[in-house]
Amino acid sequence: MKFGKFITVEGGEGVGKSTNIDFLSGLIEKQGIEVIRTREPGGTPMAERIRGLLLEHGDESLPDTAELLLFFAARSLHVTNTIRPALAAGKWVVCDRFTDASRAYQGNGRGLDMQRINTLAQWVQEGLEPDVTLLLDAPAAIGMGRAEQRGATDRLESEQISFYERVRDGYLSLARAEPARFEVIDASQSLAAVKADIGQVLARLLDDYLL
Ligand code: TMP
Repeated sequence: MKFGKFITVEGGEGVGKSTNIDFLSGLIEKQGIEVIRTREPGGTPMAERIRGLLLEHGDESLPDTAELLLFFAARSLHVTNTIRPALAAGKWVVCDRFTDASRAYQGNGRGLDMQRINTLAQWVQEGLEPDVTLLLDAPAAIGMGRAEQRGATDRLESEQISFYERVRDGYLSLARAEPARFEVIDASQSLAAVKADIGQVLARLLDDYLL
């Protein structure tokens, strides 16, 4: 049996990840391929509990290092207990954020050392890398406006705009560094145009898979 494809979807706040992940997963299913939709932080019962710790406005300050390690602890659970077994069973995995979010948010946003983040990534992922990463890109101000309209903001949605600008720059420089893995999609276009771009990315991926 063939290994499934591992697709990650990244972007700042309010760029429309959920809607577009629904759309993408639906397209894959229409091809008769079994797909699981999952997210980070989260994707296993214990990792979802870590998600709660990371997103709540807790009564204790969370040092940047502890934040980074919690994201990677959740990722270790997720890779081992959800993602690898699904791919090995031939399922495709569509994951709402993965290690690039740690690079963009904790690396560029918080200013933590990128080399350390990459060392943790090697440790936790043991060679597992996304086959393709869709980066939904939009100016930070547009995304933050949309995120605020959704209602109460969580701990990571409560930073200054300059933080989200660094996050966006971080994602764009990751995409420039790995053009073969990243597909950058302009998320400030109409939803129909974004979906058309996603359809094209999937068509290329299917050509490769069905060969
Ligand atoms: P979500 O709300 O898009 O599901 O993501 C949760 C928040 O966690 C979002 O603000 C981005 C942030 N995040 C990081 O800072 N580092 C990470 O490694 C991941 C996976 C998410």
